[in-house]
Amino acid sequence: MLKGKHIIVGITGGIAAFKIATLVRLLIKRGAEVQVVMTPNAKEFITPVTLSALTGKPVVSEFFTANTGEWHSHVDLGLWADALVIAPATASTIGKMANGIADNMLVTTYLSAKAPVFIAPAMDLDMMAHPSTVRNIDLLRSYGNHIIEPAEGELASHLIGKGRMEEPENIVKVLDEFFSSSRPLSGKKILVTAGPTYERIDPVRFIGNFSTGKMGYALADAAARAGAEVTVISGPVSVSPSERSVKVIGVESACQMAKECERLFPETDIAIMCAAVADYAPAEFHETKMKRESRDTVTLELKRNPDIAATLGSMKKMNQKLVGFALETDHEDENALKKLHSKNLDMIVLNSLAVPGAGFATDTNKVTVFKADSSKIELPLMSKKDTAENIIRLLS
Ligand code: CTP
Repeated sequence: MLKGKHIIVGITGGIAAFKIATLVRLLIKRGAEVQVVMTPNAKEFITPVTLSALTGKPVVSEFFTANTGEWHSHVDLGLWADALVIAPATASTIGKMANGIADNMLVTTYLSAKAPVFIAPAMDLDMMAHPSTVRNIDLLRSYGNHIIEPAEGELASHLIGKGRMEEPENIVKVLDEFFSSSRPLSGKKILVTAGPTYERIDPVRFIGNFSTGKMGYALADAAARAGAEVTVISGPVSVSPSERSVKVIGVESACQMAKECERLFPETDIAIMCAAVADYAPAEFHETKMKRESRDTVTLELKRNPDIAATLGSMKKMNQKLVGFALETDHEDENALKKLHSKNLDMIVLNSLAVPGAGFATDTNKVTVFKADSSKIELPLMSKKDTAENIIRLLS
């Protein structure tokens, strides 16, 4: 599973650094290409010569080579990587990573990387148990990083407790598992539309809706965790993806969303239309703010927006899948099936506003999925994250 994978091994200054020679050898034996990035302190524990001999690549530690001035781009490194493994991760580096203190090559590379990050802490038991370390590790976990928990055992201080870096064989196992069965959408490109659209009336007003984008972003995260390359075309929202690899293209109106979707769809394997697209936009945009008039009523003329899902349905090739959502308040099944067929979808996810806990702004959802052969799958009420995982599983 690691064959051909580009792996950055980030080493920090802890005793366990001596074990990284074994980690690097095991990764290379499995066919991975390894680039070592070390903090200056790590060199006190293992020499760059050992690591560059094992990887066949110069070790990167500084922002530039002192005698030639050659610049080492942390951005290029971050983009090259399929995974970043920080082992051993000291309390200090964990603190810097959690708080964005980018004062060395390793932390800047971490901040630039889009790839999944695995962190194997190693430190004395009291440092490990300190509230600041616990908080920083929790923060790193909340950013979507994978923590490889340290084991219990004898530590460098001869004390016994939790803080021993996980053995190199087990770190490789974690990576192997990550790149294998848990990633059924590996190599697939997925497009997700999310959030509302805003249709401008004048410079200060718009027509919008209550969509928050939570469901769309949960789907994008779930697809990324399943290994897909995900792009979200998002209306104005205040949520953001948890998975760092998810790319977001921000748009405002239905027409802008339609343009981006049509541009990207030919390169897409699966498109999931989760956005609450405004069906109508003002027929005319007022360049200046509309003034309150003496009349009690105002009439706004609206024109129909493009139906993005239907347009993609007409562009769809045999090897592509298109998934839609249906938000209904009545005749739910009938209306959802009608949309499935009229928009040439492969699957439609029915959201009923009549169900408590489902719909806009909630953290939970209860949906029913219909496939093109009219088969029906009812999912129970669960978090939007779990609903997303289930929908993505149905697509794998
Ligand atoms: N959709 C779209 N473009 C639109 C309207 C809807 O892409 N202009 C997509 C939605 O993202 C969703 C599906 O079509 O995947 C159904 O959206 P919904 O609002 O439930 O249905 P409409 O087709 O707009 O029909 P109605 O509002 O009359 O129920």
